Amino acid sequence: MHRARPSAARLLLLSCCLCATAGYSFRPPSDLDVTPRITVLSSGLQGCRRFQSSAVNYSTMMLEADSKRLYVGARGAVFALNASDISASSALTIEWEASSEQKLQCKLKGKDNKTECFNHIRFLQRFNSTHLYMCGTYAFRPLCAYINEEKFVMSSQPEDGKDKCPYGPTMGYTGLIIDQQMYTASQYWFRGFPDIRRNSPFPTLKTEDAPTRWLNEADFVGSALVRESSGSSAGDDDKIYFFFTEKSQEQTTTYSHSRVARVARVCKGDRGGQFTLQKRWTSFLKARLTCSLPDYDFHFNMLRSMFVMPGHTPQETLFYGIFGLEWKNVKASAVCRYSLSKVQEAFQGPYMENQDSGSKWKEYTGKIPDPRPGTCITDTLRARGINVSTSLPDDVLDFVRRHPMMSQQVQPSDRRPLLFSRTTDYTHMAVHMIEGLDGQTYHLLYMGTDEGWLHKAVEVKGQLHIIEELQVFEEPQPINNLQISAEQMSVYVSSPSGVAQLPLSYCARYSTCYDCIFSRDPHCAWNGKQCVDITSQAKTSALIQDIQHGRSGCENTQDVVNRRRSVRVGDDVLLQCELSSNLATPLWTLDDSELQGYGLNSGFRTGTDGLLIIEARQDQSGLYTCYAVENSVKIAIVTYNVTIGLDLPPSPPVEPTEDSNSLLPTLPPPTQHPRSERPVPPSASSLLPHSELLTPRNMKAMYLSLITILGGLCMVLTVVLVYVGFCLRVGNRGKYSLRAAAAAYPTKRHNRNRKQSRNSAHMELKTISSHCNGNGVCNGVSKKHNGDFQEGGFLQIVPGEGHTLPNKEPPPPAPPLPPTPLLPSPECEFPNGLSATLPSVLRRMNGNSYVLLRQSDSENTSPLCYSFSEELNKILEKRKHTQLLPRPDESSV
Ligand SMILES: *[C@@H]1O[C@H](CO)[C@@H](O)[C@H](O)[C@H]1NC(C)=O
Ligand SMILES: *[C@@H]1O[C@H](CO)[C@@H](O)[C@H](O)[C@H]1NC(C)=O
Ligand SMILES: *[C@@H]1O[C@H](CO)[C@@H](O)[C@H](O)[C@H]1NC(C)=O
Ligand SMILES: *[C@@H]1O[C@H](CO)[C@@H](O)[C@H](O)[C@H]1NC(C)=O
Ligand SMILES: *[C@@H]1O[C@H](CO)[C@@H](O)[C@H](O)[C@H]1NC(C)=O
Ligand SMILES: *[C@@H]1O[C@H](CO)[C@@H](O)[C@H](O)[C@H]1NC(C)=O
Repeated sequence: MHRARPSAARLLLLSCCLCATAGYSFRPPSDLDVTPRITVLSSGLQGCRRFQSSAVNYSTMMLEADSKRLYVGARGAVFALNASDISASSALTIEWEASSEQKLQCKLKGKDNKTECFNHIRFLQRFNSTHLYMCGTYAFRPLCAYINEEKFVMSSQPEDGKDKCPYGPTMGYTGLIIDQQMYTASQYWFRGFPDIRRNSPFPTLKTEDAPTRWLNEADFVGSALVRESSGSSAGDDDKIYFFFTEKSQEQTTTYSHSRVARVARVCKGDRGGQFTLQKRWTSFLKARLTCSLPDYDFHFNMLRSMFVMPGHTPQETLFYGIFGLEWKNVKASAVCRYSLSKVQEAFQGPYMENQDSGSKWKEYTGKIPDPRPGTCITDTLRARGINVSTSLPDDVLDFVRRHPMMSQQVQPSDRRPLLFSRTTDYTHMAVHMIEGLDGQTYHLLYMGTDEGWLHKAVEVKGQLHIIEELQVFEEPQPINNLQISAEQMSVYVSSPSGVAQLPLSYCARYSTCYDCIFSRDPHCAWNGKQCVDITSQAKTSALIQDIQHGRSGCENTQDVVNRRRSVRVGDDVLLQCELSSNLATPLWTLDDSELQGYGLNSGFRTGTDGLLIIEARQDQSGLYTCYAVENSVKIAIVTYNVTIGLDLPPSPPVEPTEDSNSLLPTLPPPTQHPRSERPVPPSASSLLPHSELLTPRNMKAMYLSLITILGGLCMVLTVVLVYVGFCLRVGNRGKYSLRAAAAAYPTKRHNRNRKQSRNSAHMELKTISSHCNGNGVCNGVSKKHNGDFQEGGFLQIVPGEGHTLPNKEPPPPAPPLPPTPLLPSPECEFPNGLSATLPSVLRRMNGNSYVLLRQSDSENTSPLCYSFSEELNKILEKRKHTQLLPRPDESSV
């Protein structure tokens, strides 16, 4: 009796799956999309210090080489924090809020009095050895002021900041003070053109607007001085580089985009032209930065932030950019790295031009005047009598004026991104160099996300390995800024709500030798007893580290926990084995032979948190070993000596383990009833303080609401897909469909029910975590201590009143898992095909209930807080297949 009614929810789900299958066949190279190895929630974060005040919007940060003080600009205030411990109450504050009169003016101008009509500190840098300089939006009337550093007070009346600071808090902006001259880039005034300026004291220079506009709706994200004069044999000048995204002007054969990422540069010694380009840069040139997935016509065009990594020499400077997609509602980011020499190469290459305004730009193939337009003054020019830009010939300056753009694009190192993520929006990053024990220099990337997380990655042979993801801010919010101090061994992270200081590495998190080695954290090494920070060790010769391969050095270590279990025939038993690494896969053996194919019929299920023995049989007794397989290394984690008996004594043996808390399982009292008639054990409710949450009715309600939510999500997804599809068809050549961007394809993550509050697991976890005493550490993270589990409790699933007969025929083949609908909301990802099973689950809940039993019931044992969702779903799925057989459920009751 096939009772699958096509419900609305089901149709929706189905249509989602169909869309996904039909549309998203794109498979970008998955090796660039890296799963973070460790996930640490904010509750488990160690060594974290925080600074918070009544102010919000901590956006600017300044940390100097000596790293004594961390200066932070927020909304209406500037702080000087002790960089060695920002939480110390020694913070110095300058309150600088916009006057109420100015706030009123701002509101009358039609600005938002909840965001814009405040004094957002947008600029904060050193001016000279005794003073800092800062600028604030001052409720839409920018002001700047000097700060006496020692006393930490404003040392002068604020001065007009119109030409130095944007009017609002979100307008793209970057600025530098170099030799007491201020270089800024922004679209300062709401209706103004974007501009790169040298403001003070003299001579003031700007970018050109006519006849050729040098910048088009540019959104600036960063700037940097590169002292190219140092060590230059040609007598080159220092240069200032600006990074931004702007409206695209060029027409190329392969694609067109509305916006593109750019790098522009000017020479520090530029003084403008004599007549042509008077008070304008004579050295302005810009080039396109590309960041594309190799072999896919798929481009990250939006530059979100740029980190400039100084090298040993200026020529070795590296630029690390975070890129996003033009579609705002699509989460995806890429990290591309550029070398200075590649940027210089583009500026040495052919120019672009547009013949008549309105048409697109093409490569210029005509004659190029001499000296080469847009170059800095060098010894060659000086030898010709041109020692300042005002001496440049008119024809050169006229060429500069009309040819600000280079034809050659700047390609990233290896012509591909270092990292590509289709689930994370990175906002900012900072890079730290450290020498590993192997003598190699490693780049550690700290990347902040739009949801308050920090990802730390190490680059090994051109590939990134994400060592960990840390939830720095519990409340999802974008990371505004990141600073690294090697002296303080800290990374500082700012966000709308506050500033956090984290150690560059927290090696003590890794409790075993393999954990330490697998982490591939260049700061961390195993000293035989624990994972330590190599910078804290006087002697490094005995330390074990393997950053290159993350594999060897721990062969002689043993860290297995041994446990015993005694259960009754017919019970469902979960043997817990929580793997702390997201990259590890579990492997189980029974009496040294691998458990093959945990199929529907095998009686076994593996999940992220353990092995489930379904309806245990006597012949399944034996020694179970759980291995974690990571990086091709198999490590035993825990063994269970499982005894499955027909009749167990009323008070089963309690096996003390190393952990005195984990008193093991108190089985429900055996019943006299034959199994098929066994009612719900009467003791169930008393055993389960929260059992009312799990009654069939509540479960039903729960699943109903789950379906409603999923249906809603899919509806949203469908609408977005339609919308985006429409936009794509209209806006672009259909080729880069969202499918490319969205990248709906299975990943490693697909197989792991990730233990994060950020995806579907969250919803499911909630259903289980009602057992948790709300102590935060419940979501499957950091549960392991010293290689042992803190709790030994385990779950038993006892079929409720209607028990399905064991199924003799093989069940119908499992339906193919629907392709993971990827975009744009990760909530629609169901690693275990949940979406396909839901309707049946609901049906099942009608006729049957499953009772989760907490076996170790003593008050002092830790609450049950393991993710059980996957097992539950699999069980339910299995039961569903049983149901599909032409035997009504009821017959088994
Ligand atoms: C400032 O912070 C508030 C909340 O703290 C946030 O809603 C707002 O978007 C932030 N504004 C900016 C410009 O970051
Ligand atoms: C900064 O904090 C450290 C550690 O708490 C302390 O030793 C030091 O004196 C503080 N420095 C200042 C300037 O307060
Ligand atoms: C903004 O203005 C509204 C009145 O238009 C007022 O009720 C509200 O309190 C103001 N908000 C702030 C933050 O000043
Ligand atoms: C730094 O600049 C400030 C503001 O212009 C000035 O008052 C101060 O004297 C300068 N300090 C030095 C050492 O030049
Ligand atoms: C440039 O060179 C001329 C002579 O060649 C000299 O008179 C002038 O002072 C120099 N200008 C600068 C700014 O060095
Ligand atoms: C498992 O436990 C039983 C007793 O409960 C014992 O006889 C057997 O030797 C144990 N097996 C292993 C491999 O330790």
